[in-house]
Amino acid sequence: MAAERALAMATCTAPVNIAVIKYWGKRDTDLILPINSSLSVTLHQDQLKTTTTAAASRDFTEDRLWLNGAEVDVGHPRVQACLREVRRLARKRRGGSEDTTTLGLLSYKVHVASENNFPTAAGLASSAAGYACLVSALARLYGVEDELSEVARRGSGSACRSMWGGFVQWQRGERPDGTDSLAHQVAPETHWPELRVLVLVVSGKKKPVASTAGMQTSVETSPLLKHRAEVVVPERLAQMIRHIRERDFEGFGQLTMQDSNQFHATCLDTFPPIFYLNDLSRHIIALAHRYNAHHGHIKVAYTFDAGPNAVIFTLADTVDEFVEVVRCSFPPTTNGDQFVRGLPVGSAALPQELMAAVVTEPVPGAVQYILHTKPGPGPQLVDDPSQHLLGADGLPRHHA
Ligand code: PMV
Repeated sequence: MAAERALAMATCTAPVNIAVIKYWGKRDTDLILPINSSLSVTLHQDQLKTTTTAAASRDFTEDRLWLNGAEVDVGHPRVQACLREVRRLARKRRGGSEDTTTLGLLSYKVHVASENNFPTAAGLASSAAGYACLVSALARLYGVEDELSEVARRGSGSACRSMWGGFVQWQRGERPDGTDSLAHQVAPETHWPELRVLVLVVSGKKKPVASTAGMQTSVETSPLLKHRAEVVVPERLAQMIRHIRERDFEGFGQLTMQDSNQFHATCLDTFPPIFYLNDLSRHIIALAHRYNAHHGHIKVAYTFDAGPNAVIFTLADTVDEFVEVVRCSFPPTTNGDQFVRGLPVGSAALPQELMAAVVTEPVPGAVQYILHTKPGPGPQLVDDPSQHLLGADGLPRHHA
């Protein structure tokens, strides 16, 4: 990038992650410092990703932000925190040097455009990928190469875990300034090649209680959450890391389900209570347990965040059969041919005993579709300039 160039631009992609040891509750709401550490699996960007282009130009008169083609308020405090922190790192890094490029860019306003390759309305966690991508693209624009999970955390807590691929721990940290509240990789995405993820998209509705408000009420009112953070999570984290290192699916799956259940128990223990699970979620939970019981061991594990979609972990050799079980349990009413998306799924004929034991009381149309994916890498730089979301005029190229 030449110092005198009128427009500098960088594009990155970033992944969604799904926690298997949940984060719920802040000890500092401004810095977004959690009451407990958490652990997640980064999902593959071929199926779920955010793409973000950040541009700086001396011709821009104000900072501007577009999400999925529509302009939104760039003044959102969390967006501002990310912008401010990346700019601060850029200044710190280049401050003493002769590099006038970055110093020039830092005096320009930025335009940022961000798009998801999945419907935001599907209720899939998009803020983690969104903030991880914003921070990655800004860092590229300004040439910052520092540890950035601390900055992404300021956008959305879970976003710090989307700064890495594979299996990722967000360490709660001890310091009041948050400098040790960081994410790091426990194992890369290649560590467990057989692990698969099925997202059962059940609702297009927005979550009933936003996580920020929900977790604050939980911190203030739930004694179970306090016990969980102080006693349960530290033990579970160590166990979970062991299961992952050993690729022990039974251990991993059981703890994943137990931790999801405890998170939702703390929601019920919140006053007034918060309900993220609905009848359909409970139906899916029961189905998974019947399926595992039929096989005599854990072959699928569910987890739910602050919404009713189910995320199922399983191994590659179980995918075809379990997808057929879901199809029979929730027969698609429309879009039958698009019921399964993402990685290929083979056909499976279900044995009579399995049908009788597992597929009880089908609920037609309850699951919109299944997205088949697997663990994937962290944020990526997009080299191809034709992929930039902003044109040479600094405005969005196309509307989603
Ligand atoms: O980062 P937030 O504010 O969207 O909170 C995420 C909370 C959960 O998704 C419920 C759990 C987690 O660890 O991701």
